[in-house]
Amino acid sequence: MAVLPKYVKLVEVGPRDGLQNESGDVPTAARIELIDRLADAGLKTIESGSFVSPKWVPRMADTAEVMAGINRRGDVSYPVLVPNMKGLEGAIAAGAGEIAVFGAASESFSQRNINCSIAESLDRFRPVCEAALKRGMRVRGYISCVLGCPYEGAVDSSAVAAMAGDLMAMGCYEVSLGDTIGVGTPLAAQAMVDRVAGTVPHDRLAVHFHDTYGQALANILACLERGVAVVDSSVAGLGGCPYAKGATGNVASEDVLYMLEGMGIATGVDLERLAEAGNSISDLLGRPSGSRVARARNAVQVKS
Ligand code: HMG
Ligand code: MG
Repeated sequence: MAVLPKYVKLVEVGPRDGLQNESGDVPTAARIELIDRLADAGLKTIESGSFVSPKWVPRMADTAEVMAGINRRGDVSYPVLVPNMKGLEGAIAAGAGEIAVFGAASESFSQRNINCSIAESLDRFRPVCEAALKRGMRVRGYISCVLGCPYEGAVDSSAVAAMAGDLMAMGCYEVSLGDTIGVGTPLAAQAMVDRVAGTVPHDRLAVHFHDTYGQALANILACLERGVAVVDSSVAGLGGCPYAKGATGNVASEDVLYMLEGMGIATGVDLERLAEAGNSISDLLGRPSGSRVARARNAVQVKS
């Protein structure tokens, strides 16, 4: 029997990854309310926005206002995505304590997402990380397309391991492995994590599964069995990636929490409050929650 972690840290990415691709209007006040509700539910890391080009991702253009409007708690981190020095300047001006740089294990995705090669992206991230760390900010690293690329298909895990090593060397405290288009399956996920762990230890890795092919929970469990204990998820399963056509949202936070609770793994997050936050943003967006757990709970509540 594999040994599972006793505690898993949930990194909530709904307000950023979840909302970045919304075609309709999402009022700034709604994103602020969502973030505050997620903090009320007990989440300690809530990715709150991006300082990227508003031409590329218009939905995140109000991140400075969001950062100014949230009720910041001392024990909660509100990271923001930063692709370059201009982004870092925005993050600093907004008083962010944590940033995330984001690269990809596939050249084509790197070009489509951040308009540069993998090597160029690393050259951009290096001064960003250095300047952020000097100011006492924490830096997280993302790698997209760790199990497949929408443009190139299969991705070699050695490219993931190499980038993970580079991000660690720049001072990232953790590297999040993104299955951007949700094509991974459990044994492939384990093999990839094992390959990366040859460069970066399991306890510095997070997993970030989009649920496009319905594999996310199985993949998460497979990675927990390998010693990963940090999981990214998105309340109500919100999201998609603007540069990965057809990609759906991240695995729903409610669904991950339900699975972990069922296995006796602590997270410090309250399912009731989390589901309320997810229902509230789903109502605002005018569609049912993407969380199976939330939908099941809502159906029972409506009946009784
Ligand atoms: P570029 O066009 O090559 O940038 O874009 P540039 O340096 O040539 O500048 C062009 C214009 O953009 C200039 O403005 C700059 O000032 C402006 P202009 O003079 O034309 O008016 N600009 C900026 N504005 C605001 N903030 C900035 C910034 N930088 C330049 N930081 C760039 C390069 C990286 C900026 C662009 O490609 C970009 O913003 N990409 C962001 C893409 C993105 O956010 N994707 C989604 C997040 S990643 C993701 O979802 C995956 C993840 O969840 C993990 C997974 O699931 O795999 C993390
Ligand atoms: Mg993502």
